[in-house]
Amino acid sequence: MSSQKPKAPVLAGLDLGSTTVKFIISTVSPDGKIEVSGMGRAPNMGVKQGVVVNIEATTESIRKAKEEAELMAGVQVQDVWVGVAGPHIKSFDSKGMVAIKNNEVTQADIERVLEAAKAVAVPGDRRVLHVLPREYKVDGQDGITDPIGMSGVRLEASVHIVTAAQAALNNTLKCIHRAGLKVAGMVLDTLATSHAILSEDEKNLGVCLADMGGGSTDLLYFVNGSVAHTSVIPVGGSHFTHDVAVGLRTPQVSAEELKRKYGCAMASMVNETETIEAEGVGGRKARAIPRKDLADVLEARAEEVLNLVANDVRLSGLMPLLGSGIVLTGGGSQLDGLVEMGEFVFDIPVRRGAPGRVGGLTDVIKTGESAVVVGLLLHAFNERKDQLLNEGMQIHLGESLDGIARKVKDFFGNMF
Ligand SMILES: Nc1ncnc2c1ncn2[C@@H]1O[C@H](COP(=O)(O)OP(=O)(O)OP(=O)(O)O)[C@@H](O)[C@H]1O
Ligand SMILES: [Mg+2]
Repeated sequence: MSSQKPKAPVLAGLDLGSTTVKFIISTVSPDGKIEVSGMGRAPNMGVKQGVVVNIEATTESIRKAKEEAELMAGVQVQDVWVGVAGPHIKSFDSKGMVAIKNNEVTQADIERVLEAAKAVAVPGDRRVLHVLPREYKVDGQDGITDPIGMSGVRLEASVHIVTAAQAALNNTLKCIHRAGLKVAGMVLDTLATSHAILSEDEKNLGVCLADMGGGSTDLLYFVNGSVAHTSVIPVGGSHFTHDVAVGLRTPQVSAEELKRKYGCAMASMVNETETIEAEGVGGRKARAIPRKDLADVLEARAEEVLNLVANDVRLSGLMPLLGSGIVLTGGGSQLDGLVEMGEFVFDIPVRRGAPGRVGGLTDVIKTGESAVVVGLLLHAFNERKDQLLNEGMQIHLGESLDGIARKVKDFFGNMF
């Protein structure tokens, strides 16, 4: 494939989902807008609940998804931001304290206090992914979110630290390198998702984000605008499909199709007389079955998953602090009737979230399945804002100079 010279800085994101690998490519416009230019998907058999279990298969899926996205975008990508998930992710609170230099808090003081908070014992086989500030204290005064410029002698920080197992990260890195890519950064899946799904208001009021993927449902809690807790429930969309296959005696592929097309998590929402056709197993003939039978199977599983989420919320002790309730996203959250069932199970509000805040080819990223990759772009932009805008300026300048040079050449060309 011939790669064109990009007209703007390029950002790419990779989500190693347990059902599908997603690869996204975008450009950053001079005014800082992220424009999606390519998206690729490939089925993946090499990841289980967010963790690589087959290097060869995962590498192949990354290659396929990357190629598809590159073809669509017309550029080639060298480095990529990657989402990290799985039961090996652990997070906990920590605190740090430093003396303020020159009696006024500067960015350097903030970096030192976060370093101090990070200096807790993290076992050698784990790596710190994020140090997320919750609040600062200056000379004992608490509740400060941005202490820069404040006067005082002592700066304290309360943070939430997210760590991951080094071995799991190494396997992820191995697949990405084998697919010919470099890693620009690793981001907790749900943290990335939160950028694409949640509003600032929701985070400030307190919210639990539930990313219902294929293999698991990953939770991220925000209290007072910052991350307070993470957890993983090992049930996702594939379990629904499996139940349908067993319950209706139909092959997995047909179960998946029936679930997406006619599925509903609330049997009472389905017309009692409606029938659908289910393929038979092992060459048996297709049969007509009531659509309600499908809903009954899905309802049982939906109730189970949502109850597990409700239980996790209760155990977290954060329930009274979740003014914005629960937001469901991820491919699994697209099941019809799930929000209605959620309203039934939870004592707090619930909504379905789809990714937003980016431009370009928004058609290819409009469902919850793309929340992680879209969030990765937003996270990457936040981290590298100055560099990206500067790069954009250089490209823009280079183009204008090219244009002037061409005009000058044309002018002289016409003269002689
Ligand atoms: N319209 C739909 N109705 C019900 N389920 C759906 C629908 N569309 C997709 N799904 C389910 O969403 C799941 C895939 O979602 P997603 O791509 O977010 O998961 P993943 O990222 O591959 O997995 P994980 O996050 O667990 O590693 C599949 O189980 C699929 O059946
Ligand atoms: Mg996922």
